[in-house]
Amino acid sequence: TAPILRRLSDLRARHAGWIRAGERVAVVPTMGALHAGHLSLVEAACAACDRVIVTIFVNPRQFNNAADLANYPRTEHRDAEKLSGLDVDVIYVPGGDQIYPEGFSSNVSVSGVSDVLEGEFRPGHFDGVATVVAKLFLQTGAHQAFFGQKDFQQLMVVKRMARDLDIPIEVIGCPTVREASGLAMSSRNQRLSPEGLERAAKLYPIMQQVAARLAGGEGFAPLAAEARDQLNKAGFKDTEYFDLRCEEHLQLLQYPTRPARLLVASWMDGIRLIDNIAVDVL
Ligand code: PAJ
Repeated sequence: TAPILRRLSDLRARHAGWIRAGERVAVVPTMGALHAGHLSLVEAACAACDRVIVTIFVNPRQFNNAADLANYPRTEHRDAEKLSGLDVDVIYVPGGDQIYPEGFSSNVSVSGVSDVLEGEFRPGHFDGVATVVAKLFLQTGAHQAFFGQKDFQQLMVVKRMARDLDIPIEVIGCPTVREASGLAMSSRNQRLSPEGLERAAKLYPIMQQVAARLAGGEGFAPLAAEARDQLNKAGFKDTEYFDLRCEEHLQLLQYPTRPARLLVASWMDGIRLIDNIAVDVL
């Protein structure tokens, strides 16, 4: 099983040896509570690179509320066990002082793609993400980074950030892994009751149906109204957004005339769920 490193200096020491040997390094940033979605990123990283670093850091800066941060599952031992079946070289679990040392005063903020969707409902969230991911990229010195399309907007924010700051890393998006029911895997699903899980699984077919009708040429507004209604009937409360947006700039669309994504955030049993799927271009 891979060693757990908790200090940047230890990580850098290993990294130096790999670079001397001309090896390619991948990083998979996570907040732990690993599930098959995370493991698919690790597998993609193992296939692409010689060395794989999985990071586990529950980043306080990206949580909008203290209770959400306090309730975030911390399962380091089980996470390490899950990773032991894969070809991971290092599990980097930095102490808080390795990321935000005393006096830390910088902030990475990506405007534009951060402003809409999650950015609107979780103010400050993407500053927290961009700041910690910039640090993890620089600390690990990886050539490639693997992120899930499950958090599609996060993937776009991270790509923009790396390009804007000239961080020499290639950011790769991997497909969303779903339960057999179609529900996108998420550490938050653990907090749903069996009935909640069953009702939450209705989201994906509703999205698929909208995507199919968009591909058939229907306009988005009436489809969205219908879908919101179906979500209500399925037991979702307060659908914060159900949008059709272009992939590149996340601008609203009425028809999928460019590579487009259907993106949703809604609440089931007090748990906030997000999902998105690609829509065929007309
Ligand atoms: P976390 O929620 O732990 O997710 C880590 C990575 O796993 C992200 O790239 C996320 O998109 C991906 N992921 C989660 N569920 C997935 C699924 N069902 N299928 C495929 N990939 C999935 O996202 C974060 O952590 C944090 O914001 C982080 C980037 C680590 C910065 O703190």
